Amino acid sequence: MHHRLAILATLAVLISPVAASAHDMAHMAMPGDSVPVPAGTLPGGGFNLIDQNGRPRSDKDFAGRYQLIYFGFTNCPDECPVDLKKMMVALDGLPKDNAARIAPIFITVDPERDTPQVLKGYVTMFSPNLTGLTGKPADVTKVERGYKVYAAKARSDSATDYTMAHSSQMYLMGPDGKFIDVLDPHDKAAQLTAQLARDLR
Ligand code: NI
Repeated sequence: MHHRLAILATLAVLISPVAASAHDMAHMAMPGDSVPVPAGTLPGGGFNLIDQNGRPRSDKDFAGRYQLIYFGFTNCPDECPVDLKKMMVALDGLPKDNAARIAPIFITVDPERDTPQVLKGYVTMFSPNLTGLTGKPADVTKVERGYKVYAAKARSDSATDYTMAHSSQMYLMGPDGKFIDVLDPHDKAAQLTAQLARDLR
C-alpha cells in the first residue's frame, strides 16, 4: 500500500530546490568546484541495521559504491514487488561496469515481521545482488526519518495482520553516502536506467 502522491508532493516541498542543485551539480560541477549544499535538509544519514544473513551492516559498509535504496515491506501485496523488480531491471539495463558500481538495497519499514530470515527469502527472489536490511524498530525508524520516508501501519486487525502505508520512491546515494537523486518507481524501467546513467559520475 502506497501513499505515493502525497509523499512525492511532500518530498518535493522538502527537498526540491536543494535536490535540484545537488542533482545538477552531478553534471555541471567541475573538479575543484565546491558548491555548498545544506546537507541537513537532504534525505540520507547513517544507519546501523542487520542484513538478510543476520550480519550487522552500516552505511560505512557501502562507502565507495553508489546505493540505490528502496523502502518497503515483504508482505506488501502489490507495489513493492513490482517496484523492486523494476529496480533490478533498471540496473540490468546499465552497462555491466556501471551497474556494478551501484549497490541495490531494500530497507524494510516493517522490522517486526521482516526478520533477517524473512528478508533473505524475499530479496533472493529479485537478485543475488540485492541487500535486504532490517533492524531494531527504533533503528529502522531513525533511517526512515533520515530519508524522509513515510511509513505507518495502515490496518491492524490484529498484532500480526496489518498492512503498511509507505512512500515508494528510490533514493540514489553517492559513493560518499550523500544524496544524489530520487527516482520514481512508477516510471518505466528504461527511464530509470537513463536517469541512473545520467546520475553516475
Ligand atoms: Ni509496498
